[in-house]
Amino acid sequence: MITPMSAAEPLPRTFWAPGRVNLIGEHTDYSGGLVLPVALDLGVTLRVTQVGGPLRVTSSDGDAQRYAEAVAAELAERGFPVAGLEATITTTLPIGAGLSSSAALGVALALALTAVPGEVLGGLELAEVAQHAETRATGVPCGMMDQAASILGRPGHAVLLDTESLRWEHVRLPAGHALVVVDSGVRRRLEQSAYATRREELERGLAGAGDPVARRRVRHVESENERVREVVRVLRSEPVDADRLGKIFRDAHESLRVDFEVSTPELDELVELAYGLGASAARMTGAGFGGSIVALVPSERAARFTDEIVAAYSGSATARVGVAAGGAREL
Ligand code: GLA
Repeated sequence: MITPMSAAEPLPRTFWAPGRVNLIGEHTDYSGGLVLPVALDLGVTLRVTQVGGPLRVTSSDGDAQRYAEAVAAELAERGFPVAGLEATITTTLPIGAGLSSSAALGVALALALTAVPGEVLGGLELAEVAQHAETRATGVPCGMMDQAASILGRPGHAVLLDTESLRWEHVRLPAGHALVVVDSGVRRRLEQSAYATRREELERGLAGAGDPVARRRVRHVESENERVREVVRVLRSEPVDADRLGKIFRDAHESLRVDFEVSTPELDELVELAYGLGASAARMTGAGFGGSIVALVPSERAARFTDEIVAAYSGSATARVGVAAGGAREL
């Protein structure tokens, strides 16, 4: 719950929104499919230093003002009175690593801007505002997964979201495993990527086009939705069947590589290394075209694993143990 912001409220007020790593359910959130992301303990902090006047948001990278204007425009279109504010942004998320730094920024802005006029939006409506603002700011026709994860995160859990019905629930992460994120160091910007093209190809396929490309895109999404269901089943049975998880994650990576064509040689290399170094499960995560892999690694191996995968990789990687954390809120 957000307390509406008024001029009388003591400033600064501080809002926090986390990034996410997606466990499974990739490129399924713009066709009503299932996703299973985890909110991280890395994210965006937004400090409101003044209420009223023009909307002015500063950050070390230049993008924050563009996002702020997009969120304000989105809110205005939905009939929200948007007051001006001054705010500064800091982030602990690596930019372009596939951990949704821009979604976290959008969610933090939507939280702060809806707190200003004294009206409050519900969780998934806030996610929708941030999602549409992202498309407005960048032209990328993204789904809702990243923003929903940033809002719905819970410590120690993933968020299972059905992007059709918008029903969601928390799913506990497997005991005895660390969630490791390895950034390939290959930077991407989604607006320059084939994201929109992939979405069009998928939609063509869903509309019945019979060409091989469209059919492969649909095959990925249909099989991926089934894999999400299966991962949730595995995570809910004790003890967790790590071999089964590994097999599903391998299939997911192959499907993204071959049928959806969003992996890169660097991501493929990291996934192979991860299995070789003792990960129970590993696959590329996020939109692809660069960015990161996610791995579930037996906890006792995790510290060595992060060192070893960085050393073995042909490029320059960063590996970190991710902490599944709570969702966006006012601090
Ligand atoms: C990006 C988008 C999400 C989702 C993923 C792929 O992160 O912002 O909406 O489509 O790619 O699963």
